[in-house]
Amino acid sequence: MKVLVLNGPNLNRLGTREPLIYGSTTHADLVDMCEAEGKTLGFEVEVRQTNHEGEMVEWLHEAADASTPVVLNGAAWTHYSIAVRDACSQLTAPLVEVHISNIHQREEFRHHSVISAVASGVIVGLGVEGYLLALRWLSLKGSA
Ligand code: DQA
Repeated sequence: MKVLVLNGPNLNRLGTREPLIYGSTTHADLVDMCEAEGKTLGFEVEVRQTNHEGEMVEWLHEAADASTPVVLNGAAWTHYSIAVRDACSQLTAPLVEVHISNIHQREEFRHHSVISAVASGVIVGLGVEGYLLALRWLSLKGSA
């Protein structure tokens, strides 16, 4: 079984992007961490990142068609993209929404997620470790 970890815009800049908010872990480090966690848990983890909304929508269609569980950090799209939300609605396997920062402690426009209502659950503010917790939950659920 496989889990897709999908990261949205600007997350390729992790490590250099606002490190006080997002920490010093790079996206390459995050990929290594998620793959290692998958090995420990006994399933394949594939991590992808895009700055292009249509590409994200197509990856979600792929996950829907293959019934693949998804860990999604939609980044800024979280707050306004109905296209990403509609693609999430089509998923048949669990969807865990992850945010590195605590979006509820930040600007008002980050408090609302259009994804959360169609996610199985949400992990916010626990840093990049939130991705690992999401993978563990999928493993506990027997989804992955
Ligand atoms: C984020 C929070 C979003 O508000 C922001 O646009 C991001 C990253 C997070 O992981 O904390 O790009 O999703």
